[in-house]
Amino acid sequence: MDEFETCVAPGFRLITSAVNNDRHLANIALIGFMGTGKTSVGRLVAEQLRFDYLDTDEAIQSATGRSITEIFEADGEPAFRALEEKIVKELAGRKKTVIATGGGLPVNPKNLASLKTHSLVVCLWSSPGKIWERVRHQSHRPLLHDKNPPAKIRELLAVREPFYKQADVLLNTDMRSLREVAQQVVHQFRLESSGRR
Ligand code: S3P
Repeated sequence: MDEFETCVAPGFRLITSAVNNDRHLANIALIGFMGTGKTSVGRLVAEQLRFDYLDTDEAIQSATGRSITEIFEADGEPAFRALEEKIVKELAGRKKTVIATGGGLPVNPKNLASLKTHSLVVCLWSSPGKIWERVRHQSHRPLLHDKNPPAKIRELLAVREPFYKQADVLLNTDMRSLREVAQQVVHQFRLESSGRR
């Protein structure tokens, strides 16, 4: 994807694959590791574009009446991943929605393929050190209930990197405020969707 690399604003590294002109971009899907700001950025983007906001973890929690931690503990990770896949399928009919996804969701190729049929897929990228800084005081993520969370972050990030890099747009959020990242997402969406609707 390096040939598409452009410096869009100081501190931003934007990598965008030329989005196929036949794609219908009704929504924006934010993917990326835990702690990269998908929820906060997603809410800001939705506000600016007057789009609905949907979080796949929240959708799973309302559908099951259980927290993500409870699902992991009682049924295991594969059961959670199956719920994610089901939610993603149900999103196909959405319009004007910013979809914030759980950090592991794009590892399932079916999920990424499905999101790309209706959304501009934007990945928020952060370095392992920044991620750890942002999540270290939070306790709601079962995958980080580990004896060495920084090592776990590095390990998971290395496995997931090839999937995150299949996004249409990859934004490095390390040096930017959530507001700046949100503006960049809005800008990129307007650029990519102009002339298609
Ligand atoms: C997960 C990330 C979480 C949540 C679950 C698993 C992951 O979402 O889906 O704890 O596999 O990275 P956030 O990325 O919103 O924290």
